[in-house]
Amino acid sequence: MMQAGSTLDEFLEQHEACDREDLRALLADIAVACIDLSDLVRRGELAGVLGAAGQENVQGEEQKKLDIIANDVFIELTQATGRVAGLASEEMDNHYPIPAQHKRGRYLLTFDPLDGSSNIDVNGATGTIFSITEHAAETAPVDDDFLQSGRKQVCAGYCLYSSASMLVITLGDGVAGFTLDNKRNAFVLTHPSMSVPSATNEFAINAAYSEHWQAPVKRYISACVAGKNGPIGKAFNMRWAGSMVGDIHRILCRGGIFMYPLDERMIKEGKQGKLRLLYEANPMGMLIEQAGGMAHTGLVSILDIAPDNLHQRVPVLMGSKEEVQRVVEYHANNK
Ligand code: AHG
Ligand code: MN
Ligand code: MN
Repeated sequence: MMQAGSTLDEFLEQHEACDREDLRALLADIAVACIDLSDLVRRGELAGVLGAAGQENVQGEEQKKLDIIANDVFIELTQATGRVAGLASEEMDNHYPIPAQHKRGRYLLTFDPLDGSSNIDVNGATGTIFSITEHAAETAPVDDDFLQSGRKQVCAGYCLYSSASMLVITLGDGVAGFTLDNKRNAFVLTHPSMSVPSATNEFAINAAYSEHWQAPVKRYISACVAGKNGPIGKAFNMRWAGSMVGDIHRILCRGGIFMYPLDERMIKEGKQGKLRLLYEANPMGMLIEQAGGMAHTGLVSILDIAPDNLHQRVPVLMGSKEEVQRVVEYHANNK
């Protein structure tokens, strides 16, 4: 395990799971994009980045100015490097092909440019989530090439923009967290081995939707709030950051269970969940599993899903093993 205090570049240079120069360089590009975004988020209204963009994305969600700016920053900083074969994000209808004048690289980058959009204007926690897979063919990728299961990710991570900005990554051998040192403009290793405790008494769910929940989720949350005298037999606490990055970061620091389940309202609208498999659930699922936690839909492991569409949504239950396992059992028994 690397010593705290190394820069991201030093860490990648010495990290066996990152023995490819182009992967190290791509992660360095992503780090630069995250530093740029961190600066913009930090300056907020002074940088003119707050507010709505006045248009919707392909999923019918209102875009904020920063959703579009963040998407553009990632494209600008990666398209001409010769390291990526194509990019896909929740803010683009289809994948972004590398323009013909640039060399294509071997990686596919899928990302949620700005997670927690509703927090932007209130100075709350936001983030960027990314996932890297390989494109085996020499030919330019098509949308279908991005439909790889979460197990195929070579790297996943996020950058949290909060009191401090933190880059958290996995290369398939554990999870490392870096804090942005604004004085040096560099990410410095501060959390060399993040792990999710298997037991927890903290849950995260948007309880405003409880009337729409399905039976297993209703029963589980009732069991949690019943506290010591309830079926689980312990008192719980609740947190909801409004940004998956904020919630998952807390769980990587001290444990917890994060839930964005499928509910009856989504079913009526023909949706399979809210969170997106390729941009949110897969990268966060890999981080959580690599930290010793569990990532599930209630029926299957998130990382085992074979995606069938770029913007596919999935139910998400992830975090401390004991609690995720308990909700999975509630589903199995249809309790
Ligand atoms: P995004 O801002 O990228 O669309 O993602 C927001 C997601 C996720 O970060 C968060 O956990 C959840 O939506 C919040 O949803 P509610 O507003 O329904 O609580
Ligand atoms: Mn998001
Ligand atoms: Mn987003």
